[in-house]
Amino acid sequence: MSPTEPEAAAALRHARARTEALLAPLSDDELVHQISPLQSPLVWDLAHIGYFEELWLLRRATGRRPLAPEYNDLYDSFAHGRAERGALPLLTPEAARAYVAEVRAAVLEVLPELTRENFLVEMVAQHELQHGETMAQTLELGNLPGPPPHGPPDVEASGDVLVEGGPFALGSDDPWAYDNERPQHVVEVAAFRIDRGLVTNAEFAQFVEAEGAALPAHWTRDGQPAPSEPVQHVSFDEAEAYTRWAGKRLPTEPEWEKAVKTLDGELEHARGAVWQWTTSFFEGYPGFRAFPYAEYSEVFFGNGYRVLRGGSWMTDPLVARPTFRNWDLPDRRQIFSGIRCASDV
Ligand SMILES: [Fe+2]
Repeated sequence: MSPTEPEAAAALRHARARTEALLAPLSDDELVHQISPLQSPLVWDLAHIGYFEELWLLRRATGRRPLAPEYNDLYDSFAHGRAERGALPLLTPEAARAYVAEVRAAVLEVLPELTRENFLVEMVAQHELQHGETMAQTLELGNLPGPPPHGPPDVEASGDVLVEGGPFALGSDDPWAYDNERPQHVVEVAAFRIDRGLVTNAEFAQFVEAEGAALPAHWTRDGQPAPSEPVQHVSFDEAEAYTRWAGKRLPTEPEWEKAVKTLDGELEHARGAVWQWTTSFFEGYPGFRAFPYAEYSEVFFGNGYRVLRGGSWMTDPLVARPTFRNWDLPDRRQIFSGIRCASDV
């Protein structure tokens, strides 16, 4: 079943409320400043959210003419790398706000015509929610006022749990799922064990002390990290080193998804606390078809990106589904990324 029009409109409204809440405390200077070469200036994210919505819901779905042709170059994510965006002649914060509001008003007018395109409306809403998380990373990197709830929930679970061997259905054919989650297909997964809880700051600190490893990025943002919070802002390389030190390993992507789909709640904070690194490289599933555009997933295949699963405290529940696949390079730690250990039986 496809999402209905009211659901799609509600998702758009929900995403916009989140964007506005994130950006409201910031000055114009903070919005236009390029805080890190890894991240866009926040005002770029804002106008790009409007551009993506205009492109898919006004131009492509209803055939409207572009509001401003130069936005193709300024706000297409493949036109310029993040590090270059601060030097572009971007819209001012005031103009960017006016642009996204103009696009949204036009979209709400044509929404009844888009009932067959509700996947696109969902995609646009999810895109905005994902940029919300990207903008929250920028806020952390710049030590700017962050969004509530300010961090992941404490880890209380301990020990691990057995996941039986056997076939299971990896991926999703749900209408909200992205192309990289499709098609759902059966894979064989051997029995393994997976930790019920995420690795905490206190546990990671023992590893740092024992091995002389680097402290996680932003460890000291608010002074000492809360010991029982999940460690976050660790790279894949650091996560893997930790698991080796602990005598364990990272799960593969099918292992992670099988554990979450079959153990039904036995894993604490499986979704929505910190992203969890897996050993799997980001690739298309067998039978993958790019939809609706190759730039969402396909251009990242085969480039050494590792998959993260689960979602962070800044990931909206609409996005943090058990089949959602996030990906990043193995040395990146600006994302809200943590560790859940697995081990062989
Ligand atoms: Fe984007």
